[in-house]
Amino acid sequence: MRLGSYTFDTPLVLAPMAGVSDRVFRALCRRHGASYAPSEMTSANAELRATSQTCRRLNMDGEDSPRIVQIAGAIPAEMAAAAQAAVAAGAEFIDINMGCPSKRVCQQLAGSALLRDEPLVRRILEAVVGAVSVPVTLKTRTGWSRSERNAVRVARLAEDLGIAALVLHGRTRECAYQGDAEYDTIAQVKAAVSIPVIANGDITSPQKARAVLAYTGADGLMVGRAAQGDPWLFQRIRVYLETGKMLPPPSPTEVLSTARAQVGALHGLYGPGLGAKFARKHVGWYARWLPQGLAVRAAFNAIEQAGAQLAFLDNLWTQQHREAA
Ligand SMILES: Cc1cc2nc3c(=O)[nH]c(=O)nc-3n(C[C@H](O)[C@H](O)[C@H](O)COP(=O)(O)O)c2cc1C
Repeated sequence: MRLGSYTFDTPLVLAPMAGVSDRVFRALCRRHGASYAPSEMTSANAELRATSQTCRRLNMDGEDSPRIVQIAGAIPAEMAAAAQAAVAAGAEFIDINMGCPSKRVCQQLAGSALLRDEPLVRRILEAVVGAVSVPVTLKTRTGWSRSERNAVRVARLAEDLGIAALVLHGRTRECAYQGDAEYDTIAQVKAAVSIPVIANGDITSPQKARAVLAYTGADGLMVGRAAQGDPWLFQRIRVYLETGKMLPPPSPTEVLSTARAQVGALHGLYGPGLGAKFARKHVGWYARWLPQGLAVRAAFNAIEQAGAQLAFLDNLWTQQHREAA
């Protein structure tokens, strides 16, 4: 699949996840086989753009190419300005969020709420594509509601307006995250447009990855929640797609050294207080790979200080290392 000057062989993309796919997690997933990883959504709203959260999300220092910033909003001129600001901050692609079902985002008629207003979709896509010289991608859902699955129309519109690639989550806005993702609409969209289509939703294993690629004909896959606590999934999927072989799961020592490095980097990115909070979330997800994982998670959650979090993980690593030797 070609995207701007980049060529990807069946891209496996880390999904943008606000509060999860920060610069640290993106780098980790890319080291383990993710082809690229858009930023968490950044608000196009001019006031929100000045907040520390948006500034942090726009900071791509040290990030490998291609650097992709996702923007969310509903006002074409604001979206255009946000895209330009992201390019000025180093973005090599812009991704437009028309997929988020969150009430906070949808009440401002952004995210997947936009799908109900196709003329506005057109104005936003025109404004953003016209505002920047880098490729613009679109991430969206299959429609507003189960009875209004307009993804094929939106995809054709996007292709006509110069969108470089589409990511399609196999749920409607009404579905939020309930039920299983459906892939029929993704297959219909893939058949209807000639720009690359990336399938998203419930890709939880190498076998599911292969089945969704085969069923939809999609050019690549985007993985979100299944990568939480499992950055190794990208490599497992890649090897399975290429060879049919299943890699073994990560060992407890590998999990702990990965968690240790990530937690240290989170303290650096967010500062010790907020960093420790984000660390608890990620270590909670890693705990599934560890013996007595539930007890590990509970013990780690009780730790307040950043330094004590690192010491805890160091001790656990030493213990696991001894047991494995
Ligand atoms: C915690 C969380 C945060 C998310 N934040 C974003 C976001 O910032 N932008 C976006 O387009 N989608 C966001 N999503 C949706 C995901 O990108 C993805 O489309 C969705 O989770 C379905 O993929 P999955 O089944 O592989 O998780 C978020 C999802 C989760 C779980």
